[in-house]
Formats: sequence, structure tokens, C-alpha cells
Amino acid sequence: MSNPELDVVEFLLTTAVYNGDRDLDEDDLPPAYRQVFWTDGRIERPLSATGQTAADATDVDRPWDAVGDLMFTQRDDFSGDIEFTDQELAEEWFLDRADEDRIRANPALAAAYGEEFDVSHEAAREVNRPARADRAWIDSLLEEYFDEEEEEEMLDLVDIRAPEEVEMTMDDLVLTPDQEGEIHKIVKAIEHRDYLAQIGLREIGKLLFVGPPGTGKTSVARALAHDLELPFVEVKLSMITSQYLGETAKNVDKSFEVARRLAPCIFFMDEFDFVAKTRSSDEHAAIKRAVNTLLKSIDDISLIDDDVLLIGATNHPDQLDAAAWRRFDEIVNFPKPDRSMRSDILQVVTRDMEIIDFDPDTLAEITEGLTGSDLRLVLREAVLSALTEERTTLTQQDLEDAVADFEERDNLKNLDMIDGDADALVAGGDISGAGNDESHDHSHDGEAHDHSHD
Ligand SMILES: Nc1ncnc2c1ncn2[C@@H]1O[C@H](COP(=O)(O)OP(=O)(O)O)[C@@H](O)[C@H]1O
Ligand SMILES: [Mg+2]
Repeated sequence: MSNPELDVVEFLLTTAVYNGDRDLDEDDLPPAYRQVFWTDGRIERPLSATGQTAADATDVDRPWDAVGDLMFTQRDDFSGDIEFTDQELAEEWFLDRADEDRIRANPALAAAYGEEFDVSHEAAREVNRPARADRAWIDSLLEEYFDEEEEEEMLDLVDIRAPEEVEMTMDDLVLTPDQEGEIHKIVKAIEHRDYLAQIGLREIGKLLFVGPPGTGKTSVARALAHDLELPFVEVKLSMITSQYLGETAKNVDKSFEVARRLAPCIFFMDEFDFVAKTRSSDEHAAIKRAVNTLLKSIDDISLIDDDVLLIGATNHPDQLDAAAWRRFDEIVNFPKPDRSMRSDILQVVTRDMEIIDFDPDTLAEITEGLTGSDLRLVLREAVLSALTEERTTLTQQDLEDAVADFEERDNLKNLDMIDGDADALVAGGDISGAGNDESHDHSHDGEAHDHSHD
């Protein structure tokens, strides 16, 4: 049902309306339009509608062919600009053909013509993804901050994702009541930042997630970014050591700068125990400097003043010293899931699967001690082994078998850790892939890292 003529006129009209109304900002442009106008983290007026921008924004291959016959359009052959000869006529033509849905998806037009369609400007803004959620915006911002060489170094250290690129959502996660409470509090704090600033309550917005590997710490942080539509900035602390040493402190500094520019955003620091480790050991001076820069940056940044929500995560709370603890104002505990939680997790992760005689409670009973991540691995094994028999429908038995396999493999893994004699294990039989598990699951690399250190 695409209508190239109408699509292109909508684009032209939007640029005209946007250029003419200074009260409109980036959030008033539909994401597809914005993406063609970002430069250095800004969208500058006037927006120019050319054959190229119109094509990129509307997905109409030859915009001029689509609207050239209309009596109110003209093209400047030299610049490629497409313009209205008579904006009033263009408005009339467009408003005759547009419907309510089209206006609701375009806040700039809702501001100008919403009344006729019973669509308020606010309503349109609300359904339109905010500009900070655009990958194109983030890229243009990074370009401004880092030259190409620097950017490569930086990308080792920080990973920046637009909320549109985060796949995890809160609906995919099973939380403890305590976790739910903490998350709810922080969501409210974000909503009411202005009020908190006004009453001078600033010690808020630095969370530390604590718990064994695979309990959902990284996932919850990402899901928050997704659900709150905030960019997600992740610093890989262990990469501090692998950086070109002289530059590390500078890059840490810059990553906070980037977070400030991206704000409101979530700044996530995985493997936070690394900080404590570095402080106590006799590391290279440059690394110590980087870690100190990091701690100072943490002190300086604030949810209330900078709109940055800081989340640290650690699998080894015992390694944190008082100085590290003190920097967080809420500690969120991520325990291994209890029986009812395991049952819930199993139901969530099998949501889109067909399983005959599925009995999550029984599975929960035989999976004592397994984390959410373990349960996912169990599921994956069950799915893969059913596939070897060309089956895409699983049975409860498949799952129970996979649990047994998992436990067996887990035992071998523990042996490996106690004896440190991997050769003996390989000779022992079918454990192929046991050591590779983590490398398949991107969200799992925190754990892989742990094993190499233990
Ligand atoms: N409570 C949970 N509910 C649903 N899935 C979970 C839960 N805990 C862990 N998982 C799953 O396990 C995997 C690893 O979790 P992750 O967030 O990386 O754990 P952590 O960061 O604590 O090591 C993810 O795919 C995640 O979806
Ligand atoms: Mg993690």
C-alpha cells in the first residue's frame, strides 16, 4: 500500500514545516527522516530536501519521478533540491490524502495539522522513538569525538548500543521481588529527576549488581536500556589492561565524556571487581592511573546532574574494597534462582517453543543450583539434539535428558578446575564443546573471562 507520491510530499512538507517552526526539535522528526540529517550529533536547520535525502528518508527510489508531475513542485537541477512552488497548495493536496495514522507517526506534522485529524502533538511525540535512540545519531556523535584511529582503540574499551539494537527486554527476564523493587525505584528516580534535583537529593543513580555468573546482571542492565529507550554504553574494564597504556586514562575519560553527551543514557561497567584487583596489586602505573581516573569519573557523574545512570556488575563482591563499595548507593543482589524462579525462567525461555508434556515445575526441581544462563544452555542442548533427529517439537523427556547431560558436563568442568589436567578429561570421553560453551553465547563472555582467571 505504499504511495510514493504521498510519501515524498510528506517528506517535503515535513522539512518545510520543521524549517519554519523553531519550537520543533529532533524528536519531532520521524526516525527515518532524522537518519539522513544527523551530522556531528546535531540536526541543523534548514533541512534540505534533495533527491538523495528524499530517497534515503522515504525509500522511494526516484523521488522526483514520483512528484515531478504535481503542479506545486519544482526541482533545482543544479543543487538537486526539490521544493514547493506553492506550499499552501501542497498542504491542501497532502491533507486531502493523508490519514490519521500518517499524522500520528509524524510529530512535526501533528504539531502543524494535528487538530484536523484529532491527533495531538504530544501523542505523536510519545509514539515516535526519541532521537537519542537512533544509531545514526550515536555514530555521528562518535565521529565528532574520535578520529578513526582513536575510534578503533575506543571500540575495544567501550561498546555503545542504541536502544533499538538491544534485544533484551524486561519481559524476557525473571526478577526477584527485591530486584523488581530496586528497578522500579530507579525507573521512578529517572522519571522524576527534576524533582530530585530540586530537593537536593543527588546520591542516587549508581547501582551495583552483585551475584554469580549467569544470573542476569548484564541482561537486566541491557533490558533497562531497551525498555527505557536509553543508549547503552558498556565499558569493558578488563580491556583497560590491553589498551595502549599511555592512552588508557585518556580513553576512560573520553568514554565518560561520550556518556555525558549521549545522556540520558545507561553507563554499564561489567567486571567491576577488576578495579579492586588493580588497586591492590602492583600493576603498571599507567593502569593504576586509568583506574583512578575511572573512580574519579564515577564520583563526578550523576543521574541528577548529568542524566547518566551508572550500573556496575561483579561476580566477585568479596574482592571489592570499601572504596569501591562506597561509590554505589544501591546494591542489587542477583542470587541463583530458587525453584519457583527456575520454573518461571524455563517458561519464559521456552515461550516460542513447542514442547509436549512440558512440566517446568519438575524441571525446576531437578535443576537445583543452576542459573538462568545454565537453564538456557540446557534448553539449547535439548533443541540441538532434537534437531539431529530432524525434530522441532520437543518433549519433556528431551529437556530432562538435557539436564542430566548438563550436570555430567558440569561435573567434568569442576574436575578440570580442581585437577587442572585437561588432557585426562579429553581422554575421558564425550565432553566435546564443554569448554566452548561460553564462546557461543555472546551475553556470556563475562563468565568465560572468569574461568580463565580462576
Ligand atoms: N533471571 C533470569 N531470567 C531470564 N533469563 C536469565 C535470568 N538470568 C540469566 N538469564 C539468561 O542467562 C544468560 C546470561 O545472563 P547474563 O545477564 O549474561 O548473566 P550475568 O551478567 O549475571 O553473568 C542470558 O541469556 C539471560 O537471558
Ligand atoms: Mg555479565
